[in-house]
Amino acid sequence: MTPARLRLGVNIDHVATIRNARGGSHPDPVRAARQAAEAGADGITAHLREDRRHISDDDIRRLRREISVPLNLEMAATAEMRAIALAHRPHAVCLVPERRQERTTEGGLDVAGQQEFLRPFVAELAAAGIRVSLFVEPARLQIEAAQAVGAAVVELHTGAYCHSDQAARPAQLERLVTAAADAERVGLECHAGHGLSFDTVGPVAAIPTIVELNIGHFLIGEAIFSGLDSAIKRMRSLMDRVRSAGSGIRIA
Ligand code: PXP
Repeated sequence: MTPARLRLGVNIDHVATIRNARGGSHPDPVRAARQAAEAGADGITAHLREDRRHISDDDIRRLRREISVPLNLEMAATAEMRAIALAHRPHAVCLVPERRQERTTEGGLDVAGQQEFLRPFVAELAAAGIRVSLFVEPARLQIEAAQAVGAAVVELHTGAYCHSDQAARPAQLERLVTAAADAERVGLECHAGHGLSFDTVGPVAAIPTIVELNIGHFLIGEAIFSGLDSAIKRMRSLMDRVRSAGSGIRIA
């Protein structure tokens, strides 16, 4: 079986982080989104956090109006965020856990522990035509729960794999491989992301049933040295090379 083409979603949150360091409007994350799409991004991801530390409400409004590729809105499962999603109707919403003190999204959503709450939340977004994804640890319990609450997609948290040392990495990759198989078995589309870089993307891209990677911090950081266009094109080509080789899973 030829694996599906692997989509690249570029997360532009940290363009907004730099803008917000000084206030004002430069650098503009919407301009970055446009340039990312021109460089080969299949979609744009933006996380509207409750504390608005990077992306703002106005960024979401402008992203919806001004970019032509699908928008994936990451958000916490709160009433405020649900109202914003329903007002803007992005192509997709990815529900993530959020703690105010964290530097970034540190773990996956505990779907199994809040099924009663999440089921109607997911249903309301889905009824508005929004594709709902749940950001989870690569664990069978969470993937089966995601299917049970009616999500269309799971996004596997790749943080533990990316941040592990060389000795521990094969075991972390194996967790992702197993989780992707679990997602396929229960009929969920499978995405992955968090912490991916040029060095870590290959083995994840080689998992044939993963159809989308969402990558942000590394690309925006790399853009300082090589430009956004070049960073995205290189990531795209690393992903495509692994996929077209069709050589199965390589351990980093
Ligand atoms: N996917 C999800 C659900 C995330 O929360 C994030 C971080 O905002 C990413 C992907 C991208 O992670 P990174 O910025 O580390 O590439």
